[in-house]
Amino acid sequence: MPVKILMVCLGNICRSPLAEGILASKLPMDQFVVDSAGTGHWHIGNPPDKRSIFTAQKNGIDITHQRGKLFKTSFYDEFDFIYVMDTNNYEDVIKMARNEEDKKKVQLILDELFPGENVDVPDPYHGFQSNFDQVYEMLEEACESIAKKLLKK
Ligand code: 4NP
Repeated sequence: MPVKILMVCLGNICRSPLAEGILASKLPMDQFVVDSAGTGHWHIGNPPDKRSIFTAQKNGIDITHQRGKLFKTSFYDEFDFIYVMDTNNYEDVIKMARNEEDKKKVQLILDELFPGENVDVPDPYHGFQSNFDQVYEMLEEACESIAKKLLKK
């Protein structure tokens, strides 16, 4: 059985598609599944934001095949680890947890680098390309740490 990891943000078009693409690029796909979802419904079925696609492409990662989907309760059964981008995502996802086991799966992704400091990956949607590049750098570092841990297990 593969280990399954879900990346979650609000729209599932800017941050979590990048996180999905970056982590997937670091793990063997015969042993791991990486996916992403949003807590908001606006972009269901849509490809990632052009600025995320561009940032990923510059770094050799293709995320054009991804399509937006909504986070749902059954993802707690489907996934082993759920990484959220900011504290609002955390609250929205935790609200849907059914028990402690569900809650234990959810972690702020930058907790990986700054444990206990509640650092958000800033939402770049209303920003510029440079904001997407900054998000990429943060996610690259966090995913490197996540991948190292997962591969050690
Ligand atoms: P994301 O960014 O959560 O990183 O995908 C957003 C994308 C779209 C919206 C908000 C945030 N929106 O309000 O449509």
